Amino acid sequence: MNERQAYNLHPLARTLAQVHVSQHPLVLHKLTFLRSKFTEPKKFRELVREIAQLLFYEATQDLALAPLTVQTPLNDCAGFEIAEQIGLMPILRAGLGMSEAILEIVPTAHVWHLGLYRDHQTLQPVTYYNKLPAQPDIDLSIIVDPMLATGGSAIAAVDILKRWGASRIKFLGLIAAPEGVQALNNTHPDIPIHLAVIDSHLNELGYIVPGLGDAGDRQFGTG
Ligand code: PRP
Ligand code: URA
Repeated sequence: MNERQAYNLHPLARTLAQVHVSQHPLVLHKLTFLRSKFTEPKKFRELVREIAQLLFYEATQDLALAPLTVQTPLNDCAGFEIAEQIGLMPILRAGLGMSEAILEIVPTAHVWHLGLYRDHQTLQPVTYYNKLPAQPDIDLSIIVDPMLATGGSAIAAVDILKRWGASRIKFLGLIAAPEGVQALNNTHPDIPIHLAVIDSHLNELGYIVPGLGDAGDRQFGTG
């Protein structure tokens, strides 16, 4: 195992079939600068966007295609178009930067915001906003949130989408704690989890170590 794999091939990614941790050099490079406490919100947002696009690319290799013929200036040419309706579900607030970035490369995606925050005392997720339509109109739902800490918010988001009737769901995050990966996988073993990295542990306040601090505050300059 080389140094890069040792850094990023966490045992959970080797043992849990649904857990996918990126090994891409661009992801590892950008993640390093995202973590730095000297990275200002403008640069932080830019890095969130870029890593989100790279992870989305890796997480959607199984998207269904339909044949499509176009005319080049020279001739007809057989090609493809995406045949699935994608839904992006950013967990507010911190997921917003990820969904906006992904929307740039799949502008036809629908975006359904899920308002969840973590109570600072109990660390339990509190739902405050959900306007999903009555009937699911999406083939693939992708929950986006930079941080998977205890896993409470991600589990609550998957619960909401399953109750809604979503058929295929994936979770896309930047940094996870092993505790959160394990909790999400235990509760929803059918959900693929795509990450840039799995870190060491959660501290006593429920923050990921070494992590990057509070992803919402760092994107929006609050806190
Ligand atoms: C953060 C983060 C996740 C959640 C992860 O949001 O963006 O949604 O914590 O923690 P968990 O895995 O323990 O549930 P936060 O509650 O800080 O809300 P914010 O994005 O509005 O700041
Ligand atoms: N939410 C964050 O933004 N950061 C953490 O480390 C944990 C939860």
